[in-house]
Amino acid sequence: MCGIIGYTGPLDSKKILLNGLTQLEYRGYDSAGAALCMENSHICLVRRTGKVANLKETMERITDVSHCGLGHTRWATHGGVTTQNTHPHQAGKVTLVHNGIIENYHQLTEQFHLEAKLHSETDSEVAAWVLDSLYQGDPLEAITRLVALIKGSYSFCIMFEDYPGEIYAIRNVSPLVAAYTRSGSFVASDLTALIPYTRQYFVVPEDHIVRLTSYKVHLYNLQRHEEMPELMEVNWNMDAAMKNGFPHFMLKEIHEQPEALRNTILPRLSKGLPDFTDDQIPDDIFTSCSQIHIVACGTAMHAGMAARSMMEPLLRIPVTVSVASEFRYEEPLIGEDTLVIIISQSGETIDTLAAMRLAKNYGAAALSVVNVKGSTIARESDYTLYTHAGPEIAVASTKAYSVQLAALYMIGCRMALVRGKYSVPQATEFMKKLLNAIPAMESMIAQKDSIKALVTHLINKSDAFFIGRGLDYAFSLEGALKLKEISYIHAEAYAAGELKHGTIALITEEVPVIAIATQEKVFAKTISNIREVKARGAFVILITREDAVLDGGVADIHIRIPKIGDRFTVFPIAVVLQLIAYYASTGKDLDVDQPRNLAKSVTVE
Ligand code: M6R
Repeated sequence: MCGIIGYTGPLDSKKILLNGLTQLEYRGYDSAGAALCMENSHICLVRRTGKVANLKETMERITDVSHCGLGHTRWATHGGVTTQNTHPHQAGKVTLVHNGIIENYHQLTEQFHLEAKLHSETDSEVAAWVLDSLYQGDPLEAITRLVALIKGSYSFCIMFEDYPGEIYAIRNVSPLVAAYTRSGSFVASDLTALIPYTRQYFVVPEDHIVRLTSYKVHLYNLQRHEEMPELMEVNWNMDAAMKNGFPHFMLKEIHEQPEALRNTILPRLSKGLPDFTDDQIPDDIFTSCSQIHIVACGTAMHAGMAARSMMEPLLRIPVTVSVASEFRYEEPLIGEDTLVIIISQSGETIDTLAAMRLAKNYGAAALSVVNVKGSTIARESDYTLYTHAGPEIAVASTKAYSVQLAALYMIGCRMALVRGKYSVPQATEFMKKLLNAIPAMESMIAQKDSIKALVTHLINKSDAFFIGRGLDYAFSLEGALKLKEISYIHAEAYAAGELKHGTIALITEEVPVIAIATQEKVFAKTISNIREVKARGAFVILITREDAVLDGGVADIHIRIPKIGDRFTVFPIAVVLQLIAYYASTGKDLDVDQPRNLAKSVTVE
C-alpha cells in the first residue's frame, strides 16, 4: 500500500526522500511524488506516475537545496493512476500525503463546498482542503479538528506553509514510525525507510500527532498535551533489507528460510520442548480453551490452514480457519472459551487487525503470530509470538510463511503437551522432527536448478492446477497463490478427490497439474486422482517423499523431497512451490518482487 517518508534536518531532503521511497518500493505502488520545502519557504511539488525512477529523473533536475520534505508512493484506491491523483496534494496552506481511506469524503466535499476546488479524484485531496478550511494558524488545533470530522483509516504527513521546516503527522490504523537523530527527524510508513539513519525509533500511537523539527520530534495526544514517545530498537540490520548479490529479494528470502526457522525455533526450546516463558505466553491460555479459531489473510491464512490440519487431529478440539475480511463481518461463534490465533507477517493488515479487535470484543484470548516487532497487531493482541524471519521485502511471502508454520507447529506441540495429548518423549520427538525440516529445506534449495528446468513446462501456459489431500491440499493452496501472484498464470488449488465433481472438465493437455502426495494415509488415493488427470492429457509434476514407490506413467516430472514425518513435509514443499513460482516469473521476465496490482502490506479494506 502507499508508502510515506517525511524528513526535516540539515541534510538534502531530496536525496533522503528518494532513498526512502526506493526503500518503500517493495510495498507496491503505481505512482510517486514529493513536496520539497525550499529555502524561500516555497513548496515545490513533483509527481510522476510509474516507478520511483521516473520521479528521481524529474527531481534530479531541481538544483535548489531543500532541508524539509514529504515523499509518497501511491497505490491507487480512489481514482486512476494519474499525475493529478498522485500525492502530495496541495490545498491552500496545506500540503499533505495520505495512506488509508477516508470513508466520508463525499459528505465532506459537500459540507465544505469543495467540488470546484478539487483537482484530483482522491479522498486525500478532500482531506487536505478540509484541513486548510479548519486551519487558523495553529496546526495542532486544525489537525485535531480534522480527525474529529473524518471517518476511516489514515496516516497523514503534512506541511503548513506558515511553518517551514516542520512536518506534522497523525495516524489512525495506518502505520507510522518516527525517529530523531543527529542527521534530522524522520517519519515513515515503515521502518525500512529509516534504517539507513537510525536504529532507534518509535511507533506513532493511534490518534496521536507528531511534530517534526530539524532536531526533535514531539508527540501529542488529541488534547494537545505532549507525551514521551516509547523508543524501540530495530532488531535487524540494513544488510537484511538488501539483495546481497541475489537477483531478487524473493530468491534471497527463499534462501534465508533455514536460518529464519532456526531463529524462530531455537530460542524457544527448553530441554527439547517448546517453551514460551520468554514470550510471556502462559500455558493456561492453552489449557482453558475448548476451541481454536485462526484468522488471517493470504499466505498467512494458508499457514493457518496447514496448522489446522496438523492441530485438530492432535488436540481433538475444533480448529477453525477464517479469512479475516469475512470473519470481521460475521457473527463468529467464539467467546471466552476460544483461543483466537491471529497470523500476520506485517502485523498491520487491516482486515486481520479488525478481526482481532472483534474477537477480543467477544471475550476471546488473542494470540498473535507476527513478524514485525511493535506492529499494531502485536501491540493490541493479548499475547504475541514473534517470528524471527527478519524483514521480508518481496511482495510474495516466503520466509514469513515457513516461520509462521514453525511457530504454529510449536504452539500445537506445546498445547498437546500441556493438555495431556503428548507425553514429554512424544513432544520431544515432535520438536526433533520439526528441526529436521530445516536440512530438508536446505536440500530442496540446493536443487533449485532442476526446479528451474521443469518450469519451462509451465511458463507458456495460462492455467495450472495444484492438487493434494489433507495437509497436501493446504500446501497446494499456497502453491497456487504464489504462482498466480508473481507469474500471472491462473492457478487453482483443489482437494484431489473433489476434482472429479466438476473441475476435471477443465483438465486438458494445456493444463499442467502440480500434484502433492506426501501424506501416507491418503497417498494411494491421491495417486488415483493423479491418474484421472493424467488420463485426460494433463502434464503432471508430482511431489512425493523420496521413499514413495510409484508405478511408471503417473507423472511426467517427479520431485522427491527428503523423508521426514508426514506432518513436516510442508517445509521442503514450501521451498519447491516457491521456486516454481519464482522461476515461472523470471522465465516470463516479470517484476518478481513487485508484481502488478499488489502491495506488501494491505492497510486498506
Ligand atoms: O502481512 P500479512 O501476513 O498480514 O499479509 C497477509 C497477506 O496480504 C499476504 O500474505 C499476501 O497474501 C502475500 N502477498 C502472499 O504472498
